[in-house]
Amino acid sequence: MSQQISLPAKLINGGIAGIVGVTCVFPIDLAKTRLQNQRQGQQVYKSMIDCLIKTVRTEGYFGMYRGAAVNLTLVTPEKAIKLAANDFFRCHLSRNGRGLNVFKEMLAGCAAGMCQVIVTTPMEMLKIQLQDAGRLAAQQRKPGLIPPTRLAANTVLCRSYNVVPNSSARAVSATQIARELLHTQGIQGLYKGLGATLLRDVPFSIVYFPLFANLNKLGKPSPDEAAPFYWSFISGCVAGSTAAVAVNPCDVVKTRLQSLSKGANEDTYSGIVDCFSKIMRREGPSAFLKGAGCRALVIAPLFGIVQVMYFLGVGEFIVSQTQLKLISD
Ligand SMILES: *[C@@H]1O[C@H](CO)[C@@H](O)[C@H](O)[C@H]1NC(C)=O
Repeated sequence: MSQQISLPAKLINGGIAGIVGVTCVFPIDLAKTRLQNQRQGQQVYKSMIDCLIKTVRTEGYFGMYRGAAVNLTLVTPEKAIKLAANDFFRCHLSRNGRGLNVFKEMLAGCAAGMCQVIVTTPMEMLKIQLQDAGRLAAQQRKPGLIPPTRLAANTVLCRSYNVVPNSSARAVSATQIARELLHTQGIQGLYKGLGATLLRDVPFSIVYFPLFANLNKLGKPSPDEAAPFYWSFISGCVAGSTAAVAVNPCDVVKTRLQSLSKGANEDTYSGIVDCFSKIMRREGPSAFLKGAGCRALVIAPLFGIVQVMYFLGVGEFIVSQTQLKLISD
């Protein structure tokens, strides 16, 4: 089916789905980042709901959307790279124009994921600083939580992320953070956590594609017919959420590595292995499941919305309309 849809139509589907998706689930994504960054003993938030309530109370409704601009502006280029790469690899992996088997489907997905990280990593990097700023500010306000002496050591990069101990909150934008990172650390600054992003996204494809294919197969009336839409929709959501939970440990590591400002008594990590072992030692294995529920709740609608866009043929409709208009003009 995906072979017949043109790339521009797919791009429109992906772009619209991305924007609708971000609008619907960004607050859960924000709660995920904050929950993952919390350490035992200095919890500001008890659960996703608690986090959302406290965020609205102290930062307002738009507080839940801190960092959403990053996703809204970059989701379309990100999808474009992924779709173009996916088409490219699928085309090269398929012999005589026939469909791909699940294994090749997975290979194409992994390869596309590797291309996509070019945009994903800096996106996540900027998004995480903005999403986490409110947690750090809340932690500072909580009396008795932070020994004042510990803060001074953490102010190197904190300055621009409005968690300076004694100054009032100053909102920073993604562009400011990007500029400062480029200025102080060069392009590497934006690509911190690249390894962890790959470690999350490649296994994601390895779990997602076979799982989706098998679930979807169960809904086919006969081997040659397609499964009904609702069945593919549910299969996509279930496979996406399962894969998201399965790779959550890598997501926790990624979030920790990419958070530039740390609260009091929060470890800094020198790399993936150091981060894994410190979390294991200080917080125990259960820490790797932090934010897993949120992530499942983020991924399922994101996948579902994409499928609805394809099902409705929004992209094809827009492309055909503009072509008609070009002909009649
Ligand atoms: C925002 O973009 C990042 C990077 O692609 C992604 O991991 C995350 O799920 C997105 N969040 C939402 C709510 O779309």
